[in-house]
Amino acid sequence: MDRIVKVGIIGCGGIANGKHMPSLHQIPNVEMVAFCDIVEERAVKAAEQYGTEDAKVYTDYKELLKDESIEVVHVLTPNKEHADITVDALYAGKHVMCEKPMAKTAADARRMVEAAKATGKKLTIGYQHRQKVSAQVAKGYVENDTLGEIYYANCYAVRRRGTPNWGVFLNEEEQGGGPIIDIATHSLDLTLYLMNNYEPALVMGRTHKKLEHPEAGNIWGDNGVSTTPLEEAACAFIQMKNGATILLETSWALNTAEPISEGSCVLCGSKAGLSLKDNKLVLNKIELNRPVKTEVDTSAGGVAFYDGASATPQLTEAVNWINCIINDTDPVVLPEQALVVSEILEAIYTSSKTGKPVYFE
Ligand SMILES: NC(=O)c1ccc[n+]([C@@H]2O[C@H](COP(=O)([O-])OP(=O)(O)OC[C@H]3O[C@@H](n4cnc5c(N)ncnc54)[C@H](O)[C@@H]3O)[C@@H](O)[C@H]2O)c1
Repeated sequence: MDRIVKVGIIGCGGIANGKHMPSLHQIPNVEMVAFCDIVEERAVKAAEQYGTEDAKVYTDYKELLKDESIEVVHVLTPNKEHADITVDALYAGKHVMCEKPMAKTAADARRMVEAAKATGKKLTIGYQHRQKVSAQVAKGYVENDTLGEIYYANCYAVRRRGTPNWGVFLNEEEQGGGPIIDIATHSLDLTLYLMNNYEPALVMGRTHKKLEHPEAGNIWGDNGVSTTPLEEAACAFIQMKNGATILLETSWALNTAEPISEGSCVLCGSKAGLSLKDNKLVLNKIELNRPVKTEVDTSAGGVAFYDGASATPQLTEAVNWINCIINDTDPVVLPEQALVVSEILEAIYTSSKTGKPVYFE
């Protein structure tokens, strides 16, 4: 990593400040040279905190895209804007990291894939759960065939009372939906990645909005959450073309005593199974005619700054992304894969509205 990569940030809100800018800031050969937000103060503050001395501030992303020195753009706006900004950025010759979900609709996500293909620029999506050490170890077990054929999976993003009631999360027009598009998107991405299966055959789903006061007990407080039109929970059955089945469960608010955080899944294979729940990775199989469970230690074992287990997923994501630009390799999250996630999530909403399964060609 010996050359400088100049990055422009579009959208300087929560995820920019919580994930992207602090991570990019730790990579020595990244320079954040431009910041754009429709709320100018946010871009100014970001430029002061993370930018180069001569970093530019914009309120119109199209102006930022005119800067030819910028090689990479991070699109960190609400979901509705992802597609237009990403497509414009790709056609302006930039490589793009766009936040999850890929887009508000599958049609928008498809436009993004087509733009990446047409321009030959790299496009990736911020599914950082793939970069967790536990997820990478799980992937290793899949790749060395410890599990055999994975034909049965569960995919979880289940919160008891965790409705994000700030910013635009409750705005259907901006975001496109509730927990399905917000957090199940992470779990489904991880599940498909570990299964290495991107060929859905049918999706049957049902969304729920039943609680009288979903804001009661919310970990982020009561902010009038019950006025949102969005789903509080959903359950879906996904069948893949090879016959594998996935049960997806998701909620922002649900009367369950056993929440399981996003980025969790269970994979059952013909030789062994694997559970990755709340970062705890457990293998199960039969040995000496007895069921055996093995918990994988993915901690740093007390070693400070050990760069395997102590690197955060968001830092690993940023490092891998910048490396793929420098080395001209594929990003960890391919746009075609993220598109399938968007198509399945949209099918859950469609199936819930029509009461019928959605079939894929
Ligand atoms: N990877 C994760 O785990 C994770 C977590 C939280 C949010 N996200 C995603 O990040 C995205 C942003 O969410 P957030 O929580 O940061 O929201 P936010 O509202 O805090 O920040 C979005 C920012 O974008 C700005 N903006 C809106 N339209 C713009 C435009 N056209 N040009 C420039 N700036 C514009 C807003 O003013 C705001 O400052 C969403 O897509 C969300 O799903 C991902």
